[in-house]
Amino acid sequence: MITIKSQREITLMKEAGLMVSKTHKYLKKYIRPGITTKKLDEIAEKYIISMGGIPTCKGYEGFPAALCTSINDEVVHGIPGNRKLKNGDIITIDMVIGYQGYQGDAAWTYEVGSVSEEKKYLMKHTKEALYKGIEQVKPGNRIGDISNAVETYAKKYKLGVVKELVGHGIGTEMHEDPDVPNYGKPHKGPILKPGMVICIEPMLNLGSARVGILDDDWTIVTEDGMPSAHYEHTVLVTEDGYEILTPRLDEND
Ligand code: MF3
Ligand code: CO
Repeated sequence: MITIKSQREITLMKEAGLMVSKTHKYLKKYIRPGITTKKLDEIAEKYIISMGGIPTCKGYEGFPAALCTSINDEVVHGIPGNRKLKNGDIITIDMVIGYQGYQGDAAWTYEVGSVSEEKKYLMKHTKEALYKGIEQVKPGNRIGDISNAVETYAKKYKLGVVKELVGHGIGTEMHEDPDVPNYGKPHKGPILKPGMVICIEPMLNLGSARVGILDDDWTIVTEDGMPSAHYEHTVLVTEDGYEILTPRLDEND
């Protein structure tokens, strides 16, 4: 069932989304060579709690941390640990924050020091694929219009579209209906209506689309070891289009 949020619920979801935006902005300055992903997680958790938010990922199906930290060939759900970031890495930070029972969710891929041109290419076009999907959000359009826009853009730039993981509705739960795949046919799937809130989140690979899972049972990695990027926003369907509930607060993004 796809829920339509009331005005009151939308207000709370905006608060939750803004906490996600602020945490991304706050963390960005710490993302540099030498820091461990565990340290980033500790910094984020403290900050989230200081704002009155709840780090929803922690304890979700046994996930042990506030952040998912996925480096280079790791696609999503990397577990923070003692690994240190190195110059030239890319790292995706994905987080969900709860506020008064409502969730906000956003992921972003960051450069560590100076990264290769091919990683820059992957990041630029994965971010652009997210915005191509978001541009399709308006009442009357369907989920398939979003999916197709993301896939068409990714294919144009020869990036592998991960199919095993999809975007999702969001509200009191981090994952609600509908699924929002990053591939599919236009004019198909559920119709978008004002008050729906969805997470659009392309995961694109520089090489093949194929992925596997590590022995930790969480970390999804590319099968060929090539880098992957992931950008996600929580998006509200409005009367005449959309509003991003997890806006980037850094003008350089
Ligand atoms: N943003 C991620 C998602 O949409 C959050 C995963 S949190 C975890 O799936 F707890 F499952 F790791
Ligand atoms: Co998500």
